[in-house]
Amino acid sequence: MGRAISKARTLSPLLPFFVFAVLASLAALDSTQAASAENNTSIHGTDSGATLTSKNASCEQSPFAGYDCVLTVVPGQFEIHWALDGELLYIAAVATTTGWVAVGWSPTGQMVGSNAVIGPDPNPVGGFEIQAFRLGGRSVSRVHPNPNITVLFASSVTMEGVTRLEFARLVNESGPGIVPVVAAKGVPNRMLWAVSPDGSTGLQYHGPTNRMPFSVDFVSGASARALIDDEAHYRHLASKMRAHGWLMGFGVGVLLPLGALASRFGKNRLPHWFYLHAVCQITGVILMTIGAIIAFSYFDALQRAQSHAQARQHSIGLTIFILAWVQLLIALFRPSPGTRIRRIWFLWHWFLGTGIIIMGGVNVFLGMALFHKYTDYGIQGARVVYAIFVSFYALVYLALDTFLKPAPDAAERARIQLSTFPNPAPQYPDSRPDAAAVPPSGAGFV
Ligand code: HEM
Ligand code: HEM
Ligand code: HEM
Repeated sequence: MGRAISKARTLSPLLPFFVFAVLASLAALDSTQAASAENNTSIHGTDSGATLTSKNASCEQSPFAGYDCVLTVVPGQFEIHWALDGELLYIAAVATTTGWVAVGWSPTGQMVGSNAVIGPDPNPVGGFEIQAFRLGGRSVSRVHPNPNITVLFASSVTMEGVTRLEFARLVNESGPGIVPVVAAKGVPNRMLWAVSPDGSTGLQYHGPTNRMPFSVDFVSGASARALIDDEAHYRHLASKMRAHGWLMGFGVGVLLPLGALASRFGKNRLPHWFYLHAVCQITGVILMTIGAIIAFSYFDALQRAQSHAQARQHSIGLTIFILAWVQLLIALFRPSPGTRIRRIWFLWHWFLGTGIIIMGGVNVFLGMALFHKYTDYGIQGARVVYAIFVSFYALVYLALDTFLKPAPDAAERARIQLSTFPNPAPQYPDSRPDAAAVPPSGAGFV
């Protein structure tokens, strides 16, 4: 067992390298996630090799010739008809407006970062053709045509205040800035619709009620009206996510690693190392618990919209939550120092504690990315600040591990004490086997 412990001790200096490796892999994470999302679609798209159609979809039948299904997204305002025929998806969007009509594909359910086919612009001066756009921001100057996206058979007609926009898109089309059309049973497309307010000319802001996210599985016909369907609910959720992120980031991402540092390097050096460790860890677990209660109470609505990448943050978060509680409970029932069972306890405490801390760091980055996906809020600043914290932590850890003199053990402390005070006050014998004349600070609880 002694050998195992010394192995754990020699392993622990590897922690910073581990953290660096995690950071480096995180830097690559965004691109791999994007790539895997694309892979997903192409894998599913070619499914069994059979031609995918919407002919057998369990949807409301479209009354339009050439279309299989119709989804009334908002009664009296917007409906979408479609037919899937192998590599082509035919769309007819019918909206109550005399201005432009847009059908978008979105990676997040948010406007920014999406593609949309928009048309027609009734404005005789400076009007535009039906074409695909990249929605780079929430202002007209950031909505640009995207010629990489193929738009076929485009046409439109406006009659009695209602505009019908028709076009076809290629399934699984990929390329720079393209959000692909997915044709795979069980994989919904995240869509957006928006229309211009009546009487407006040119490409203008649609207004707060003329737009909405929704989702459609073009093969099965399954659909959902909106991921987060009204503005108030969306803002409310965003504020809960932010609170969850701060609590988790500080509790799990900062306090737990600092507490471990206090134990590893403060032991037998700092007078109150034990209290420092226990207070950091218990506070960390309390903050984590409040954060998890927020997640359990408010984030359920999002689960319908989850992709695999999101589910991963979910499950790591849940694992950390359970393990941290196990660690806390086991920490409260410690065997006396110096005993064999205490060494086993330490080994467990060390491995589990280190594991929780590493997973916690990774999950803070994953959580931030998820928050960005849902809300589109910028997270670059928070990501950089936390990366600096992790790097600095690793540096301090490495420096202390390399340059700090070994801490005096109990016997040595006693000797030092004796040589400083030649006539020490009488000490009562301690019942613990390796306890020396002068107990380490906080020893009553350690
Ligand atoms: C033409 C230029 C456009 C401008 C200036 C614009 C502007 C904006 C603004 C300011 C917001 C935030 C306020 C709000 O929620 O209403 C917003 C949200 C939204 N926009 Fe647009 N938009 C444009 C085009 C589009 C298009 C073409 C689509 C869909 C195909 C779209 C879909 C949405 C959706 C679904 C939201 C709500 C979700 C979110 O906040 O991202 N927008 N837009
Ligand atoms: C989730 C919460 C916790 C985590 C992640 C954690 C993590 C750690 C780690 C990584 C170490 C090893 C430091 C080293 O390398 O020497 C350690 C040591 C220690 N921890 Fe914790 N800890 C937690 C909670 C607690 C609690 C609540 C207590 C006591 C109330 C506690 C008591 C100790 C003690 C006494 C040591 C030193 C053990 C020894 O050297 O024999 N820990 N902890
Ligand atoms: C290490 C720290 C973290 C832990 C332990 C953690 C834990 C959790 C747990 C347990 C859930 C699932 C709740 C449920 O079952 O519905 C969750 C969801 C979520 N967390 Fe975290 N989290 C952490 C960090 C973060 C951070 C820094 C953010 C950024 C704001 C974040 C954002 C989210 C979001 C957006 C969800 C909703 C996921 C969904 O339901 O799709 N998390 N987290």
